[in-house]
Amino acid sequence: MTTDFIPTEGYLQTISHATETIKAKLANTKLANPRVMIICGSGLGGIADILDDSSKIEISYEKIPGFKTSTVQGHIGKLVFGLIGDKKVPVMCMVGRLHFYEGYTFQQTTFPIRVAKILNIDTVVVTNAAGGINSQYKPGDLMVIEDHINFPGLAGWHPLRGPNLNGFGPRFQPLSDAYDYDLRKLFLTTARDKLKITRNIHEGTYFFAAGPTFETRAEVRLIRALGGDAVGMSTVPEVIIARHSGLKVLALSLITNAGVGEKPPSAFHENPIALDQGMASHDEVLQAADEASKDVQRIIESVVNEL
Ligand code: HPA
Repeated sequence: MTTDFIPTEGYLQTISHATETIKAKLANTKLANPRVMIICGSGLGGIADILDDSSKIEISYEKIPGFKTSTVQGHIGKLVFGLIGDKKVPVMCMVGRLHFYEGYTFQQTTFPIRVAKILNIDTVVVTNAAGGINSQYKPGDLMVIEDHINFPGLAGWHPLRGPNLNGFGPRFQPLSDAYDYDLRKLFLTTARDKLKITRNIHEGTYFFAAGPTFETRAEVRLIRALGGDAVGMSTVPEVIIARHSGLKVLALSLITNAGVGEKPPSAFHENPIALDQGMASHDEVLQAADEASKDVQRIIESVVNEL
């Protein structure tokens, strides 16, 4: 099983080495005390563009102890520090996230969140690209995450499996309040009332599937029956570790494609419709993300400015 955990002491030591490496880079700048972490989802790396150019500091993952490099197209692999908005909120942006399907353990994929906690960051804004499961959702819609289903976690593939890091949080972390109500409200009022964004915005449940395959038709129906509104291959492990570390969470899915849940055409019939109709592809995900990214950037900039 690839979830074998690293001995606690070594892990904690690597977290402090990473934190020291970052602090040394930020020392004596306006960015020395970042308050907000932003995780950029597939195709949403442009979020780093809302950081004030004059003050940006970039550190590639390779230079930070314990950080793994992202192997996915659309995910680069660097931390970008900078100031956001007229209130100049210091933030740490993760451009390029790490996924379980890349072969990394959950301890490795969520390592940056632990580092964020030691850096005294108090809020995490998590973004992702996700497939629409709810039949009302269309590509290009946004979904503020109000809850999640940790499907691998329910079967034992859980980021908090193993010795509990008592210095961060409790053994039995409650998650009934995982997605902060005030932050969700701030997001919705900012997008709709302040910025007058016309794109559809929903509030819904994110279903975490380990990936890397997109779902079968039967899996889409299963996820729908279980209460998922959108499905994706990230976010949930990070949110769990953030909550365990006492960080507040705002999470956003950009719906990039609609999950296909109809039964496949029956081979008993002549001239069936093409089986690839509606089929998900990573290129489609990146294109939808690209089109929506400007709106996402505007909303996040305005929300973070209020934090
Ligand atoms: N399924 C899982 N992950 C995804 C999808 C999807 O349809 N779209 C974007 N990420």
